[in-house]
Amino acid sequence: MTAAVISLLLSSTASTHQRADTRQRSGDAQSADSIDARAAALVDAMTLEEQISLLRSKSGASLLDLGIPLPPYIPEAMRAPKPAGAIGTAGFVPAIERVRFPALHLADAGLGVADIGFLRPGDQATALPSSLSLAATFDPAAAEAAGGIVGTEAFAKGINVQLAGGVNLAREPRNGRNFEYFGEDPLLAGLLVGEQIRGIQRNHVASTIKHFALNAQESGRFVHDARIGDAAIRESDLLAFEIGIKRGDPASVMCAYNKVNGAYACESQYLIAGVLKGDWGYRGWVMSDWGAVHSLEASVGAGLDQQSPQDKDYFAGIAAAVAQGTLPRARVRDMAYRIVRAMVAVGALDYRARPGGTIDRETHARRAQELAEAGMVLLKNDGLLPLTRSDRRIALIGRHADKGVLAGGGSSQVIPYGGLYRDAPGANPLSALLAPSYGLSSPLEALRKALPGAEIVFDDGSDPARAAALAKSVDVALVVAGKPEVEGVDHADLSLPYGQDALIAAVAGANPRTAVVLETGNPIVMPWLDKVGAVLEAWFPGQRGGEAIAAILSGASEPRGRLPISFPASTDQLPRKTVTGYDPAKQRPLGIGVTYEPFAIDYSEGSDVGYRWFEKAGAKPLFPFGHGLTYTSFGYSGLRFNAGEALTVRARITNTGRRPGTEVAQLYVAPPGRTHRLAGWAKVTLAPGESREISITADPWLLLSFDERARRWVRPAGAYRFFVGKSAGEPMLRGSAGMTAASQAKAR
Ligand code: BGC
Repeated sequence: MTAAVISLLLSSTASTHQRADTRQRSGDAQSADSIDARAAALVDAMTLEEQISLLRSKSGASLLDLGIPLPPYIPEAMRAPKPAGAIGTAGFVPAIERVRFPALHLADAGLGVADIGFLRPGDQATALPSSLSLAATFDPAAAEAAGGIVGTEAFAKGINVQLAGGVNLAREPRNGRNFEYFGEDPLLAGLLVGEQIRGIQRNHVASTIKHFALNAQESGRFVHDARIGDAAIRESDLLAFEIGIKRGDPASVMCAYNKVNGAYACESQYLIAGVLKGDWGYRGWVMSDWGAVHSLEASVGAGLDQQSPQDKDYFAGIAAAVAQGTLPRARVRDMAYRIVRAMVAVGALDYRARPGGTIDRETHARRAQELAEAGMVLLKNDGLLPLTRSDRRIALIGRHADKGVLAGGGSSQVIPYGGLYRDAPGANPLSALLAPSYGLSSPLEALRKALPGAEIVFDDGSDPARAAALAKSVDVALVVAGKPEVEGVDHADLSLPYGQDALIAAVAGANPRTAVVLETGNPIVMPWLDKVGAVLEAWFPGQRGGEAIAAILSGASEPRGRLPISFPASTDQLPRKTVTGYDPAKQRPLGIGVTYEPFAIDYSEGSDVGYRWFEKAGAKPLFPFGHGLTYTSFGYSGLRFNAGEALTVRARITNTGRRPGTEVAQLYVAPPGRTHRLAGWAKVTLAPGESREISITADPWLLLSFDERARRWVRPAGAYRFFVGKSAGEPMLRGSAGMTAASQAKAR
């Protein structure tokens, strides 16, 4: 490691600019200075050995506890016996009792306190709607509330570090983990992930933000090299992290498996020492993803502070490296200090998480339902929804729609209160752990409750002809269609599996009064769209997803979500026709046991991700980013704006329909020569006939662009075209604002 790198790492530790943590947390009267002083005293009271003990986490659970023979490809880290003191989590660092520093119990994740099925046998938690669904609320307070539920439950289970905060931008709509992330826009994703993290951390539970950076697909995730320019990544993927870090002040950043521009993310001087700890002045600790470390020297040299469980234990060499003088003691202290300081800052030393705390399940379930309703997006409606009293005989058609709602799989899997149904009859326990799962919140039962006057007949949809015959005999047919997603598995295309496209076409062919409810973690294409009367995107809706679907369909709740991700008309419209390196034979959950030759992904779309790409390519998506209908209608008028240093836009929104509803008026701004970017939005709920003036100030950061040569953020003077609209594809009021020039060297 060079002296220059070490001095950069040490100086960024001491830097005082742009510290997000000068805010006080959760009502605690800890000032930033007292946090620093307390952490320093604690770290300096530790022996070198004790400091080093903080720098590696082990698995906090063991697959051995499943009591079944394990195939050879299961990593040693997961088959070692559970360490003493561990409570069944993805990671564990023993306590340092001598100085009263608590053990670290690191658990996934953002959709609830996760358990992939063997970690804490018998334990359950509130399953929240997916993060993509949360993003669809366009509501920072909803993300904070969701984080609050995760944090409360983690604390009550003795967990003090949540591996939450997944914010990889959805560059690739076939990526199997998009359901864990917040969509394709850096402002929306960054604000909401930051709020989710704040919600977690106010419970004295540390949170990560992850996976830093550009882990935008699962195929080849351990080896692929994401290629992108400096300005392009800073204006897109890194901007989401930057906003999230500023807003949420996460205790830790988890570096990703993949490479970025030739260097593994956990060894990237550019990403960690340069951007994160240097430019942004980040003061928390950087932990690796599970198995993402490839060398001690390169990773510690780049700024990695903690190695997560993995078979090749590079960090076991730290003591020897210090003894030989190749790793300075000061750097080890810095690594330990970052961990201790972050735990002090969230209050985890004063409020110690212990298993056995009480959880108000009923309140959390109700809140999970509200969040699911707020995130559902009505994509199409020819007046079929909401259902009315004259819809007396209803067919509910769909695989397992009698049992429950689909959930995403992998490390973020939550075993919901009430249990789940695994769609893998007869599978051995290990494969069953990763099979698609359905939380036991039955859309069928919920609809019967919501519509007591109607007769609701169920068909599992396995025989399209039978389902079509049923559809013919009813007033309205509802098809619940889903597409499972699991970490480690991408998709060849955007179509629905299990023959559901043919099923929907057959049902709609028999009865045009057909509504489709989608349970997906990604966009899908809809060859049957013209034939159906309505489409509701329900995502993976969580603990009370069935009830939430019933509430929207019956009109007890107004649809109010907006798409956080563009729905392409076909994969031909995407920057890449297929997922780079996609190999159908290698789509194994978690990617365990599959090997790929290294390959590069050229992110040539740069910062024009999602809707910006559609604008650049002049392509019309099936449904644009930001789209979402309501059961009423809204008019836009009276555009006014102020521009100069800042840009503030005002407009009058009127509910022109007959029902109450919520409009999300979105402001998109195009700096000279660039595509439009979401720069802010206003969410208003209006009664029929009611009208309100809204005001949206463009986030100043979205008016800037990164100048690679000057290494500065710049806002060239000129005309900034903008529109206020219902989505990225539906401008309602347009304008052009003259902005003055500005530039800024440092982070937000
Ligand atoms: C995932 C991380 C997760 C970790 C621990 C990894 O495979 O990529 O998101 O936090 O496992 O479960």
